[in-house]
Amino acid sequence: PALSADHPLNSGLTHDATLIKAYRGERSETLPVWFMRQAGRSLPEYRKLREGTEMLESCLRPEMASEITLQPVRRHKVDAAIFFSDIVIPVKCAGVDVQIVPNVGPVLGEAIDTPEKVAALPELDDAALDPIREAVALTVAELGSTPLIGFGGAPFTVAAYMVEGKPTRDHLGPRSMMHADPETWHALADWAGRVTAQFIRAQVEAGASSIQLFDSWAGSLSLKDYQEFAQPHSAKVFADLDDLGVQKVHFGTGTGELLTAMKEAGADVIGVDYRLPLDVAAQRVGADTPLQGNIDPALLTAGWEPLKADIDAVIAAGKNAPGHVLNLGHGVPPTTDPDVLTRIVEYIHAQPGR
Ligand code: CP3
Repeated sequence: PALSADHPLNSGLTHDATLIKAYRGERSETLPVWFMRQAGRSLPEYRKLREGTEMLESCLRPEMASEITLQPVRRHKVDAAIFFSDIVIPVKCAGVDVQIVPNVGPVLGEAIDTPEKVAALPELDDAALDPIREAVALTVAELGSTPLIGFGGAPFTVAAYMVEGKPTRDHLGPRSMMHADPETWHALADWAGRVTAQFIRAQVEAGASSIQLFDSWAGSLSLKDYQEFAQPHSAKVFADLDDLGVQKVHFGTGTGELLTAMKEAGADVIGVDYRLPLDVAAQRVGADTPLQGNIDPALLTAGWEPLKADIDAVIAAGKNAPGHVLNLGHGVPPTTDPDVLTRIVEYIHAQPGR
């Protein structure tokens, strides 16, 4: 067996948590809810703890990463923790020069945009992930029956940052490279997939009960390009993790046209962004697929009545899926009043889950 007997899924701690059941396609008395980017800048206790420590440095300090992961669980009583880390952590742990620049995002020392640079990418020594394993172990020891979600970035999204060397709006660099030099693109995406699979495996083996693969920027691809240049690499990551036996969630933004292909990459659960109602998503991916989503983050600052109306609509549309995990349609904006998130959790927990 891939997971030890004392792993939270095997010891019985998280096996029947509402989140894990929903990911398996089963309903419970209450609907599970968590928020993408719940650990982070919307919380004053996070900002205080992070003062003076760089983003990626904080991810590699086990006590700090664990404490940040636990903060939103204590405060909001969400049904899952998401591990505090970043999609570029495996890239950094492999020895590539990358930082998170505040209010910008991942920035590399130099863009990985030539065949020579791609060929020279180092392998990821598994020992470099020890701080991750340690942080996860500390976290699950505190979480008890609340499941921890591990995560990584899908090969397209991670490779897009590497080719550009920084965040961009249209991802022209990677989308051009795919066609100009497909061999180099595939080699880079393969590398990104391998280090990401190692990163996710480390989290699950240390105690995470499910995983989410973020293909945040896949929505910039046509279906044809997605199928040729992104999907095979995501499929390889999912296949690599199959023996772990955890439910695998796949999410991206602006991916309405790609949802079926994302499911076919090997996901068990599809995360839907706020643009596509869940009943339409269910028609596209098939009525047997559990869904996660998709409250519009913009409504967090629009006042309770419009927000409540959106939540009600999301819950109603989610009835078309066998299991539904409430979430936002993308990450928590830094300006969110944390009390609004707490109120959403209380409201959702007061609704029938079936
Ligand atoms: O609460 C959580 O969701 C867990 C932690 C988490 C972070 N990043 C922490 C973080 C997760 C799941 C991620 C994933 C991630 N990182 C994605 C996929 C999810 C998505 O939003 O689409 C992407 C694209 C990244 C890359 C990245 N890292 C970006 C675009 C940024 C924002 C840069 C900025 O300042 O606007 C980061 C930094 C980052 N990752 C922060 C956090 C809490 C902010 C750092 C800070 O506190 O200054």
